[in-house]
Amino acid sequence: MFRYLKKFEGTMRGFKRLLAQALLAGSCLSILAGAPAAGREPAKARAAMSDEAVRARADALIAQMTPEEKAGQLSQFFYLQPMPPANKPALEALGKGQAGAMLFVTDPAEANRLQKIAVEQTRLKIPLLFGFDVIHGLRTIFPVPLGMAASWDPQLVEQSQAVAAAEARAVGVHWAFAPMLDIARDPRWGRIVEGPGEDPYLGSAMAVAQVKGFQGDYIGAPNRIIAGPKHFAGYGASLGGRDYDEVNLSDNELWNVYLPPFKAAVDAGAGNVMAAYMGLNGVPAAGNHWLLTKVLRETWGFKGFVVSDANGVQSLAAQGLAVDKADAAVRALQAGIDLEMSPPMTPAAMPTLVQSLNEGKITQAQLDDAVRRVLEAKIRMGLFENPYVDPAKAEAVLDDPAHLQLARVAAERSAVLLKNEGGLLPLDRKGIKSIAVIGPLADSARDTLGPWVFPQNKPQGASVLSGLKAKLGPAVRVDYSEGVRMPPRTFPSPMALLDPPQKRAPLDETAEIQRAVGLAKAADVAVLVLGEGQDMIGEAASRASLDLPGRQQELLDAVVATGKPVVVLLMSARPLNLKETQAAAILDIWYPGSAGGEAAANLLFGEANPGGKLPFTWIRDAAHAPNPYAQLISHAPKDADKRYWAGSSAPTWPFGHGLSYTSFKYANLRIERPSYRVGEAVGVSVELSNAGARAGDEVAQLYIHQRSGTSARPVRELKGFQRVSLKPGETRILRFTLKPDDLRYWSAVTGGWVQDEAAFDVWVGGDSKAELAGTFEVRGR
Ligand code: NOJ
Repeated sequence: MFRYLKKFEGTMRGFKRLLAQALLAGSCLSILAGAPAAGREPAKARAAMSDEAVRARADALIAQMTPEEKAGQLSQFFYLQPMPPANKPALEALGKGQAGAMLFVTDPAEANRLQKIAVEQTRLKIPLLFGFDVIHGLRTIFPVPLGMAASWDPQLVEQSQAVAAAEARAVGVHWAFAPMLDIARDPRWGRIVEGPGEDPYLGSAMAVAQVKGFQGDYIGAPNRIIAGPKHFAGYGASLGGRDYDEVNLSDNELWNVYLPPFKAAVDAGAGNVMAAYMGLNGVPAAGNHWLLTKVLRETWGFKGFVVSDANGVQSLAAQGLAVDKADAAVRALQAGIDLEMSPPMTPAAMPTLVQSLNEGKITQAQLDDAVRRVLEAKIRMGLFENPYVDPAKAEAVLDDPAHLQLARVAAERSAVLLKNEGGLLPLDRKGIKSIAVIGPLADSARDTLGPWVFPQNKPQGASVLSGLKAKLGPAVRVDYSEGVRMPPRTFPSPMALLDPPQKRAPLDETAEIQRAVGLAKAADVAVLVLGEGQDMIGEAASRASLDLPGRQQELLDAVVATGKPVVVLLMSARPLNLKETQAAAILDIWYPGSAGGEAAANLLFGEANPGGKLPFTWIRDAAHAPNPYAQLISHAPKDADKRYWAGSSAPTWPFGHGLSYTSFKYANLRIERPSYRVGEAVGVSVELSNAGARAGDEVAQLYIHQRSGTSARPVRELKGFQRVSLKPGETRILRFTLKPDDLRYWSAVTGGWVQDEAAFDVWVGGDSKAELAGTFEVRGR
């Protein structure tokens, strides 16, 4: 949506002034005072309703609806607080009973005010559905989704999204525009931060966990919301990693790599799917019948509703598919879009369907099918019985201390220890009397939260510096230098339009680097918090370079040159190019969220032991993208690291890499039998030992390679993982099962799924370079 905010950047400044004046005059307070009391009936524990009952109820309503009311149900409007004039199209449509859904309302009183219009003042009293970008929390902010994927802990991911769902539901949100499931193999693409990384197996596990977390056991479960996997599909493969640009994917890549997380989300019962913006193989996703109907509904049996991305319908004309807005609505509906997320400040396109119906361009059944899916979501969510939210109860949910606790655990479990020379980490609390905390991200709560965090929700946040000070107290001297500033973007961050960064006095970076060096020299250890600001990643935040922005590398090199022990805490969601830095320890904490400061302190001092693993391959340089681990073996495999004559093409760290303060050993890989029949499950076991002196977590990863077949298969593919906690000296036998589906793949030769008779290699270990190997073969039925 962010592109569109630019359109009214200027207008918004005016609105803000207006709002401030109105607040002063007390007029807003009187508007808010008109909001209805809490839901008329307390939300009862409801069981899942049968499909038949839901459909019958929706059909009974449809029978009473005019074409205008139907088209209205297919329209979702931005409702931006605090920008009342921007909301004109939304309010006009709502007043006419022609708004089906809103987005961006997260003030419960405001949600109730709008809902009251829908359920009391419109002819059919159909409640509104409120959707929002609940990406990694609402007030309690969890690590960014890529960081959560780095935890390799689906249970934690599920719990975190359940908390996010509870907070969202408490303010009146019914539906999350999440999980984002775009596989991303090109880290120049800024939206890599929102997804599960490069691997379809890990991505599918994250998909299922998030859908369960958001929705609970069924759509409409108490304190849960509808999950909306996005962006369907292929968005992560945009040309050159440039956001919004076109995607060309072979069927092989689509079926084997990009679609599986979506399929997993659909199988887990996701109630919604959001179509992507970009053209997929020449057809914009919102007008792509093959994608939205053939694959999603006919092949996978998806029963929920499909929403366009913001302006995704109307831009079908701009993207050169549709003739005009009315044609765009027809093309979108017929492709499989049910609900149009219309652009801010703009009337929706779906009302033009009334005329298209009259002209015979769409059928009554097409219109009704889409309306039914939207109504069914409202029925399942219980909105006809309980349209309102209780504002009095919201704050207690939002400020539940248990939520912050879980956010801390999540931040600790998502951290990835990339490097730890000489066992520098964990720092010894007793032996350290002074620390120099350095870097532009060290004292920034805002950056610590990451992208997709909205000021209106009063997100909680604490910087690494404050976390360290709180942990260490007065016994340890903590000196701070900002070091350098983040360079400005060449165009404003979309988020900055909603939440402009504070203006600060300019910094003499050369002098500040010298000051930082002085602090490092005078300290026992230097902790540098480096990376990318929260506005340098996310939507409209692609980069052509993976270098540390601005003069951060210079700062790092200068501090390393002091000879003091240096720890780098990386705050980023890409494989940044650290230029062979000599820093002894590097810990990737992503954008760790509300409890990021405390978590970072716990990790540095060993109260938490890092156990996360990379969800992507850490390429050396942006020019190496894409370079996923799961590639086909070439005819020259021995030279796989020599694909560029001027330097190694091997990644800095492989997919799945991550160290611990303890060490792990793998032994005795066993495959139950040497030979299996097609369709049989394969049992694998391995012994994992904690060979160090500390308790710690290891993510044991299982990879396979199929040696021959209908198509050639990647050199390695992840097909199993387990995150386990082991005490020092403890050994455990881990068992994995390779299900028949894990051995199947989509082949361009047959144009469908195949399971070959073939020999397979298996590896189990701590990353995608695992060496402990075994083999089995699969023979005919
Ligand atoms: C556009 C983004 O692509 C999508 O992910 C988001 O959910 C919508 N805007 C609404 O903010």
